[in-house]
Amino acid sequence: MTLKNAIRSIPDYPKPGIIFRDITTLLADAKAFRKAIDELVQPWSGDKIDKIAGIEARGFILGGAVAHQLSAGFVPIRKKGKLPHKTVSISYSLEYGDDEMEIHVDAVQPGEKVILVDDLIATGGTAEAAVKLLKKIGADVVATVFVIDLPELGGAKKIEALGVPVRSLIAFE
Ligand code: PRP
Ligand code: ADE
Repeated sequence: MTLKNAIRSIPDYPKPGIIFRDITTLLADAKAFRKAIDELVQPWSGDKIDKIAGIEARGFILGGAVAHQLSAGFVPIRKKGKLPHKTVSISYSLEYGDDEMEIHVDAVQPGEKVILVDDLIATGGTAEAAVKLLKKIGADVVATVFVIDLPELGGAKKIEALGVPVRSLIAFE
């Protein structure tokens, strides 16, 4: 079993010309799910990571499992209007539209070591906004991790330009 084979590709979703990389098939496969989480955390096993930040919605599923594996806390980065306490927010662009995301202002203590988790990096707009939000509230963003990279869209380079390392497990050209 390879992780790549566990991902389903759906042409022309959600718009013509987009090949949607669907991780629900990977998540439903117990061996593939465990392998993905083990590989995502491997560089930090035994390290003290304070918190995992996950991006709504698919980053919540992976981020919760990563947090458990590293004995770290979990912090949600959510679409606008979903978090109940005081937030900081940022607008960003996607491969297929625009959106706004938020984090609780007290989700991280200044200087805490945080790893950002999402399922996929495409243009990097979402992850860039999330890194900026985390830095705004004082986090030390140690790394960003993704199951899937779409390297042609340049997202990983965008994040590395912010001085934050990127780890991804699979690339789709
Ligand atoms: C997807 C994916 C990433 C983002 C990547 O989420 O889960 O968060 O797009 O795209 P980018 O690198 O071009 O910014 P989406 O916004 O579709 O939200 P969802 O997880 O709620 O479906
Ligand atoms: N988010 C942005 N681009 C995507 C794609 N091609 N597949 C799945 N999620 C995405």
